[in-house]
Amino acid sequence: MSGNNGFISIQNVDKYFGSFQAINDVSMTVGHGEFFSLLGASGCGKTTLLRMLAGFENPSSGEIYIDGQPMSDVPPHMRPVNMVFQNYAIFPHLNVRDNIAYGLRKQKLPKARRDDMVDEMLELIKLPHYGNRKANQLSGGQRQRIALARALILRPKVLLLDEPLGALDKQLREQMQLELRALQRTVGITFVFVTHDQEEALTLSDRIAVMSRGEVLQLDTPGGLYERPQGREVASFIGTMNFFDGQVRGQTAEAISVEAAGLGVLSIPETKGRFVEGESVQIALRPEKLELMDAAPTDGSESTKGVLQNAAYLGERSHYYVKVDGHETPIAVSAQNRFDGSFAVEEGKPVWLTWRDEAAVVLR
Ligand SMILES: Nc1ncnc2c1ncn2[C@@H]1O[C@H](COP(=O)(O)OP(=O)(O)O)[C@@H](O)[C@H]1O
Ligand SMILES: [Mg+2]
Repeated sequence: MSGNNGFISIQNVDKYFGSFQAINDVSMTVGHGEFFSLLGASGCGKTTLLRMLAGFENPSSGEIYIDGQPMSDVPPHMRPVNMVFQNYAIFPHLNVRDNIAYGLRKQKLPKARRDDMVDEMLELIKLPHYGNRKANQLSGGQRQRIALARALILRPKVLLLDEPLGALDKQLREQMQLELRALQRTVGITFVFVTHDQEEALTLSDRIAVMSRGEVLQLDTPGGLYERPQGREVASFIGTMNFFDGQVRGQTAEAISVEAAGLGVLSIPETKGRFVEGESVQIALRPEKLELMDAAPTDGSESTKGVLQNAAYLGERSHYYVKVDGHETPIAVSAQNRFDGSFAVEEGKPVWLTWRDEAAVVLR
C-alpha cells in the first residue's frame, strides 16, 4: 500500500539484539537518485540500519520497501542493492580488471561485453590504465575506487556505503568525497551513505538523517540541519554552537521575543512552535554569526560587551572566546582572517559582540 512514497521507505522499524534495542521506531523515505546519509556517533545504529537495507539483518518489527517492494521475504542476493565497506573488500591476488568483474562471473556474458563494462568502470573511477595491476600494488584511495566500481558494475538500484572513506587520511578523504559526489551524479543511483563525520555528511549529501541511540533526531538538508537544528543534540553535534539560557517574553505570528542570558532581548523569527510567556528555552547562535569589535557599534545595532579570554589562530580564520556577564561559558566567535580587516586585540581587553537576531535559533 504505502510502500511507494519514496524509493526506499523504512516504516516503523525496530531492531533488537536480545533485549538490547539497537533501532527504535525509525521511519524515513529516501528519494530516487538521492545521496542520503546516516550520520551519528559510533554505536548509534547506522550499520544496523544499513545491514537491514542489505538484508543481512531483519527488522524485529516494521517494514522496509525498496522500489515499492516489501523486502521482508527477500534474501540479500535478490535485493536491488549492493554494499561497499570501509575495509577495502577486494581480492589482493586478483588484478584490477578481475576484481571489478568479480560480481559478473555468475552472469553468462560474452567476454567482449564484460570487457566493455570493465573498461567503462575504469574510466568512471579515473583509473583507465590500471586494469592489469595487482590489487596489492594500489594505494588505499585506489583500492576504494575499485571497490566502488565492483559494486557499481552490477547496476544496483541502491548503493549502500558503510564509512567507505573512513580509513583514508584527511587530504585523500576530502578528494575522494568530491569524486564520490560527482560519480553519484553521473550514475544517478540512490546512495545511502553511513558516516560519523559531520563535515563529510554535509559535503556529500542531499539529505541527512542524524541518529542517536537508535533513533532519528532530525532528517533534513545539510543547510537545514546547520541553520535550523530542532534540538540541542543536533545543534551541538553539527558544527560548533553557543547556547544561552533564555526566557520567553512574548510571541507574535512572526517572531518570538526571548531574553537570553548575556545577550539581552532577541526577536527571533519563529512561526512553527507555540511558546508561553515565561517559558524557559535555549537560544543557539553559531560562532560565525557573531561579530567581534573593539568598540561599541555606533549604528545602533544590538551588542553585548565582554572580555576577550583567548584567541586561536587557524590560518584562514581565528576563533575567539569572549566572556560576558550573566553567561558562564565563554562565547565562541569565528572570524575570517581577511587581508584588510583582521581583528587584532589583546587577551583580557574589552570587546563588543554584535549579531542579527534572525541568526539565532530557539530550542525547547
Ligand atoms: N549482532 C549484534 N549483536 C548485538 N549487538 C549488536 C549487534 N550489532 C550491533 N549491535 C549493537 O547495536 C548498536 C548499534 O551498532 P551499529 O549499528 O554497529 O552502530 P554504528 O554503525 O552506528 O556505529 C551498538 O550498541 C552495537 O553494539
Ligand atoms: Mg558502523
